[in-house]
Formats: sequence, C-alpha cells, structure tokens
Amino acid sequence: MNRITSDGITKVKAVFIYCLYKGEGLQVEALALERKAEMNRELKERIKVLKKERNAIILAHYYQRDEIQEVADFRGDSFLLAQKAAQTDADVIVFCGVHFMGESAKILAPDKKVIIPDERAGCPMADMVNVDGLRKLKAQHPNAKVVTYINSSAEIKAETDICCTSSNAVKVIQSLDAEEIIWVPDKNLGHYVQQHTDKKMIIWEGYCNTHDMLTVKDVVEMRAKYPNAEFVVHPECRPEVVEMGDFVGSTTAILEYCRDSACKEFIVGTEDGTGYQLRVDSPDKEFHFATKFLVCPNMKVNNLKKLAKALETMKPEIYVPQDVADRARLSLERMLQVK
Ligand code: 13P
Ligand code: SF4
Repeated sequence: MNRITSDGITKVKAVFIYCLYKGEGLQVEALALERKAEMNRELKERIKVLKKERNAIILAHYYQRDEIQEVADFRGDSFLLAQKAAQTDADVIVFCGVHFMGESAKILAPDKKVIIPDERAGCPMADMVNVDGLRKLKAQHPNAKVVTYINSSAEIKAETDICCTSSNAVKVIQSLDAEEIIWVPDKNLGHYVQQHTDKKMIIWEGYCNTHDMLTVKDVVEMRAKYPNAEFVVHPECRPEVVEMGDFVGSTTAILEYCRDSACKEFIVGTEDGTGYQLRVDSPDKEFHFATKFLVCPNMKVNNLKKLAKALETMKPEIYVPQDVADRARLSLERMLQVK
C-alpha cells in the first residue's frame, strides 16, 4: 500500500505553495506587461503629435528596439538612412541609431536640426580609429585612397576620400582609380571586401564588439540544433564565421535574402533588432539568432521615453564644426553618387 510519509506531505505542501507564488508571480508579470504596453501607447501618441508640431521626421536603424522601429517614418540600414537624411524636406531629423549616424545626417543636411534620443549612444568601432593614426598611414602610403566605413566620426570622414557602408563597400572600392586602399576602421568587413577586389588593402584593426562576439562554435551548435535552417551572416562578423555563411550580406541584403528565399528557417548572424523587420517581412518563417550576445548595447540605449523627450526639448542636438562638416560631406556625397 502507498503511504504518504510526513516528508511526502511536506513536499506536496511545498509544491502547492510554489504553485501559488508562481501563479501570483505570473499575474504580477502580466500586469506589469499590460502597464508597459499602456505607457508605450501613450508615448507613441505623444510622439505622433510632437512630430507633427515640429515638422520632424523619425529615422530608425534596423538595430533599434521594436517600439522605436514601430514609430519611425523610415526604418533602414546606414546607407538608406543617410539617403533619407540627404533628401528630406522636414525641418527636424530625429535620428534613432548611434551618434555617427546622427552626425552623418547633420553633415548631409546642414540646414536641418538633427536630434538624437540619447547622446550616450556611441559606436565603439567608430572610436577605434583616430585622426593622428590615420594621417600617419596616409603619409606612409601617399598613393592610396582612403575608404572609410560610415561607422566613423566626422573628423575621420573629413580625412577620407570616400565613405562606404556594408551594402556598397565593394562597389565603392571598384569605383576608385587607385590600386592601393587604406581601409578604416573595420578589419572584419575589410577582410571580406578584400576577397572581392584585386586592389591592395591596408586594413585598420578596428571591429564591432557585437558582431565579433559570434564564434564558429556558436554556429556549429546552432546548425546542429536547427539542421534545416540557413545561416545568414553580416560581414562585420569574424572571417572564419563569415566563411560559414549560406548567405553573407549587409543588414538590408540579409533582410531581402530571408524575405525572398524559399527556406522557412534561418540562423541569423547579425544584431537582434533586425528580428523586427524579419518578422514583418516573413511572419510565416522562423528566425533564430546565432547567439544571445548579438545585441548592441549602444543601439538599445534609445527608448520611446527618450525619443518623446527629445522631440519635446529639441535636445540633444548634433553639432559638427563647419570646416569638419564641409570636408566630411565630400566623402559622403561621393559615396551616395556611386551607382
Ligand atoms: P549596416 O546598417 O550598414 O548594415 O551596418 C551595420 C551596423 O553595424 C550599423 O551600426
Ligand atoms: Fe557599432 Fe557594432 Fe553597435 Fe553597429 S552594432 S553601432 S558597429 S558597436
């Protein structure tokens, strides 16, 4: 006969109390989520009204939080957003991304007010190259043209022949009448581009802390877990990881590939904010980010509350000294002209 010992009864009691707490815990969690959704709805309404009053346009990079991408007039990668900034007839550009993106917008649209939700949103890769170091390299290679990834400061762009983004880097390099290229600051993207050109590239040693997190081991494990999935990867990742890709491309190229592919499941090797657009484009497909570390903390410091405050106070505003902006503009405009 089965007998419940006093120890057994204690266990049953413990399980019962745990379930009670867990149930209440879930209720509290649900209430908190509901409250957050309500606050977001209010903030979105306020943003809509303020945007109209200020004649502002909101540009959001694909790596922004979902709720920011939801209120944006345009979502895009670095290239598309630079184009939008150059073309807009709004009075104010609210740039939801990182600092160098706001700077590029200001350089391309000097008469506009450019504001950002949080001035602490920097890019560690952009900070890995400095003007003195670049000038030294230019002196050592006087015949080389300087190609700078848009992920860089205005001062570096001012020292540059032409900028590029991950979506046009190869085209930009092929458009130049020089056989030697100084490439700053991303060594991983530089390595990828080198595979697609015969030009000699002198590559700076910078990298994106976020994309560089992804390792071969992560991809091997994910492939074992999701054997039917295709691995799509951004060229800011390490070369040995990029080599494993079924598809390699910029953020936009990855989005387009996943949308158009017949495959229904993907392992994604880029920042997790892209999940928003991936799901909008292909609600019937499954996306697994290759590691939980593919989150850029700088992109994520922006939120709806800060966006609403920026529109209210018109701060923080982006300033670029005019002499720097004038020189940097040439390198950005040359990029926008490459077909
Ligand atoms: P793209 O927007 O060009 O894909 O660049 C990725 C990135 O890291 C932006 O900070
Ligand atoms: Fe910079 Fe990488 Fe973040 Fe892009 S994802 S802003 S390159 S740190």
